[in-house]
Amino acid sequence: MDVMTNVLIIGSGIAALQTARLLEEHFQVQIVTKCSVKMSSSYRAQGGIAAVTSQEDHPMFHIADTLTAGDYHHERKNVEVLIENGTEIMRDFLNEGFPVDRQVDGSPALGLEGVHSYHRILHAGGDRTGQIMIDYLLNQLTSNIVVNCYEMAYELLLNTNGDCIGVLTKGAKGTKRYLAHHVILATGGTGAIYSCTSNYATSTGDGIALAYRARAAISDMEFMQFHPSLLWCGGQAKGLVSEAVRGAGGVFVDAQRQPIMKGIHEQLDLAPRHITAHALFNKRAAGQETFIDISNIEHFEEKFPTIAQLCHDNNVNLQDGLIPVAPGSHFLMGGVVADDKGRTSIPHLYAIGEVACTGVHGANRLASNSLLEGITFGKRTAQYIIQTGCKQNSFLIDDKHHQQTMPSLFTKDQLRQKMMHTLGIVRNPIDMQQFKQQLPSMQTLLHVDLDGLNRQELELYMMHVVATLMTHAAITRKETRGAHIRIDKPKNDNQWANRWIIFQQGQMKVRNSLYEYHQTRGNVKAIF
Ligand code: SIN
Repeated sequence: MDVMTNVLIIGSGIAALQTARLLEEHFQVQIVTKCSVKMSSSYRAQGGIAAVTSQEDHPMFHIADTLTAGDYHHERKNVEVLIENGTEIMRDFLNEGFPVDRQVDGSPALGLEGVHSYHRILHAGGDRTGQIMIDYLLNQLTSNIVVNCYEMAYELLLNTNGDCIGVLTKGAKGTKRYLAHHVILATGGTGAIYSCTSNYATSTGDGIALAYRARAAISDMEFMQFHPSLLWCGGQAKGLVSEAVRGAGGVFVDAQRQPIMKGIHEQLDLAPRHITAHALFNKRAAGQETFIDISNIEHFEEKFPTIAQLCHDNNVNLQDGLIPVAPGSHFLMGGVVADDKGRTSIPHLYAIGEVACTGVHGANRLASNSLLEGITFGKRTAQYIIQTGCKQNSFLIDDKHHQQTMPSLFTKDQLRQKMMHTLGIVRNPIDMQQFKQQLPSMQTLLHVDLDGLNRQELELYMMHVVATLMTHAAITRKETRGAHIRIDKPKNDNQWANRWIIFQQGQMKVRNSLYEYHQTRGNVKAIF
C-alpha cells in the first residue's frame, strides 16, 4: 500500500511534534511511529528545559556551560544557534502560555543542574516537564496531521538522483510505502542497546540504522552519555532519578550514608555527568551500594511526583531518605550529521532531536539541553521546509537490491550486556576489539535484505548496526573525551581535538570538521 504526502516525520517526540505543528497549515504531514504516540524519551523527560530567562543570566554563560560539559568537542556555530535561538523560542512558549512552574511572584521557578553556572532550568509539573510539553504540543495538532502508530520504519527510499523520497514501514497490516517530498528522522536515541538505561526498551537507534543503510553521514557514535542516577531495584534499572533532585539538595551517599562526591570534584553532586557516573561506577565495582540521600529535601513528593511514584511502585520507602541508584546509558551525543536546519548529507532527508548530530552537545551533553534542542531545531527545520516548498521530486525509486542474508546476531539481552560491559562508562580497548570481532562487519550490515523480517527481527538488526558503529568509533578515538573513560588513554589527547569520526557511504573516516565532506550529486549540491 502506498501513502503520498508532502512531509513525512518518523518519530513522535518533542522535535517531531514541534515540526509537525508548524508545518501543518502549509502541507500534508504524516507521522509514523513504532509505538504509541507518547512513548518517547521526550515524554519521560523529568529534568526540564535549559533556557536563559533571568536577568542575571546571559546566553553567553549558557554557551560556556554547554562547551565545558561537552569537553569542547562542538560545532560552535550550532551551539550559538541552539542557545540564542532556543532562548527566544522558549520565551515565545512562555508568552504563549506554556505552563512552567512559577514562584509566588509569578516569575519562572528556575532549577539548577550539573555544570550550569546559573539557575536556568524551566520545569513543568515538577518532574513532569516532558509529559506536559508533549501533551501541550499534541493539543495543538489538528486533524490535518495523520499519526500512524505501531509502524516501524525500516528502509529509506531514495530516487535515482539520490534524494530521499520516502520510507518502507512494517506494521500490523504488513508493509507500507510512504512517498514524500521531505522525510524527517526524529526517531530519538539508542539507550536501549544497553542493559542498564533510562530509556524505553524501544529506543534502539532505528533512525541511525536507516540513515546508515541509505549511506548518510553519521558522526560521534563513540559518545554515549551515562546518567549517574537510575533507580536501581532488584538488580535492574527502573527509570530515572533526575539530576534536579541533586539540584534541590540530594546527595550521593554509600550504605553508611557517607557522601561519595566529597574530594572528587569541587562541584560535588552537580559535577559533570561523566564524573558523577564514574564515581558511582567505581563504588559499585568495589561491591558497594549507592544511593541519593534526600533527607534534606522538603516536600519531596510534591516537588518530584514522578520519582516519588516510581519509588512507590518499586517498594522504595521514601521515609528512609535513601533512593538506591546506579549509572546507566541515557543520551547519545552522536547520530545522523545534520546542519542547523536539520539537513543531512542526503537531499530531502532531515534529522532532528537526539537522532541528529549537529555538534551542539559535544562529547557530553549539558543537562536539560535536549528538550531545548528538540524545539529549536524542530522549528528551524519546519521554517526551512516552508521556505523551500514541495517542488516536484522524481519518485523513481533507486532499487538497491539488498541480497545479503542476515548474519548471526546476539540476542537483545546478550547485546545489551555486552554493550554495558564493553562500551560502558569505562572502556578497555582489548575488550572492544574482541567485541568488534563478534559483531557483523559494517559492509555486511549494509547489504542485508530486510524485507522478510518481522518487527522484532528488524529491531535486533537496527541495534546491531548501532552497536557496530559505536564500537568502531570507540576503538578509533584513542583518547578519553567527554562521557566515558578509556583505560589505556585516560586523558584528552590534543591530536584528537576537533577530530570527528564519520561514517558515510558505509566507510569510516576521521575528519577535521563535522561538515568536511562536500559532495555534489548531479545538479543537486548536497550540503556536505
Ligand atoms: C535529568 O533529569 O537528570 C535528566 C535531564 C537531562 O538529561 O537533560
